[in-house]
Amino acid sequence: MRFMKTNKALLEERNKHVPQGPFNVHPIFAQEAKGSILIDVEGKEYIDFAGGIGVSNVGHCNEAVLGVIQDQIQKYIHTCFHVVMYEPYIELAKRLNAITPGNFPKKTMLANSGAEGVENAVKVARHVTGRNAIIAFEDAFHGRTLLALSLTSKMKPYKFGFGPYAPEIYRMPYAYCYRCEFGLEYPSCEIECAYFLKEFFHTHISSEQVAALVVEPVLGEGGFVVPPKEYFKIIHKICQDNGIVLIADEVQTGFGRTAKMFAMEHYEIAPDIMVMAKSMAGGLPLSAVTGKAEMMDHPQVGGLGGTFAGNPVACRAALAVLDEFEKGDLLPKAGQIGRKVHIRFKALQEKYSLIGDVRGLGAMIGMELVVDRKTKEPATALTKQLVDLCREKGLLMISAGTHSNIIRPLMPLTITDQQLEKGLSILEESISEVQHSQNF
Ligand SMILES: Cc1ncc(COP(=O)(O)O)c(C=O)c1O
Repeated sequence: MRFMKTNKALLEERNKHVPQGPFNVHPIFAQEAKGSILIDVEGKEYIDFAGGIGVSNVGHCNEAVLGVIQDQIQKYIHTCFHVVMYEPYIELAKRLNAITPGNFPKKTMLANSGAEGVENAVKVARHVTGRNAIIAFEDAFHGRTLLALSLTSKMKPYKFGFGPYAPEIYRMPYAYCYRCEFGLEYPSCEIECAYFLKEFFHTHISSEQVAALVVEPVLGEGGFVVPPKEYFKIIHKICQDNGIVLIADEVQTGFGRTAKMFAMEHYEIAPDIMVMAKSMAGGLPLSAVTGKAEMMDHPQVGGLGGTFAGNPVACRAALAVLDEFEKGDLLPKAGQIGRKVHIRFKALQEKYSLIGDVRGLGAMIGMELVVDRKTKEPATALTKQLVDLCREKGLLMISAGTHSNIIRPLMPLTITDQQLEKGLSILEESISEVQHSQNF
């Protein structure tokens, strides 16, 4: 294959041969990536605060992951688990069953992407309960396949023009304290947004028709929104009282991002079913659905699966990722990153009125940009300007939020102190420029 060398030339080719739908945040092409550094085809080096949207928690081209990939591809790359089984699938299921929250027997099935994982979790919940309805949340993101897309909240660009959406999906407000839909403030709110679920059964869908409630422990694409610590215990209890399967979508929060292996550990609850993907296999496509054994075993033989689901190379990579976490440094490191980023973001908030809110959990710390702190009007265009400016200065960043006005760093947890410091300095410099360009 002949590689063309400039970003501009490749972009022209890209526009000629690839539709516009598959979006691109940055108009650059990768040459190589290692740890937290990405180099483009023109040799420009970037500190990577995007990590391929939260996929590179153990760093780009992690040595341990590379080693097992190289070993596995010499043996076999694909047999299809449904035709001839292989041990790495079983070993990975066993380890995920052991490390996910919940002291009950569990089973795990594997798939290819986060969306596919979410869809399988919903299939299991419907099969178990014999019910149809699913409760999802405002600002949620669960993927782009049609059922996952229907669970996703944001209209443009994700859902617009792609209907009809899957039926029997009902949407609750999330615990978005900065923009509380109930006009309340924590803690005097007494977590009204969680107890609202009971009212929801009267106003939107009867509890006995609800198969599952699907929820992200912290909104990822929705903008790093962290519910109060009491929130999920209340939601969990209401689900239990009403025979509703609680599905935690840990696709973005999983594998150390929040300084615990899984974010639900912060809330001290064990969901019935958990979905994982993104950072699980060090950059290879893989997702997992882990849940109560009696639930996961409910669908009939042949009811779950897929040609590539649980690819052996990806399973070996995921096992290597778990080994990296078992060494014990990564979770404390995520905590350190989070504390550092939080302190820096808070200091920036004091200086720049553009930053309306700073929030997060572990290393999942975001800042919400607003045009006016009183009206909280989202600073959508300025956020894009900031992301572009960061790139020009050598920092890869992505935004999030229904109004694309939230900065969400997803740097590898292996980032060095120096790289982190440099990235944060670029971000600060860029915020200062954006703020001053506006004469706030
Ligand atoms: C919480 C969450 N769920 C599901 C998905 C969908 O995952 P995928 O893009 O692998 O289908 C994402 C992707 O960003 C996500 O953040």
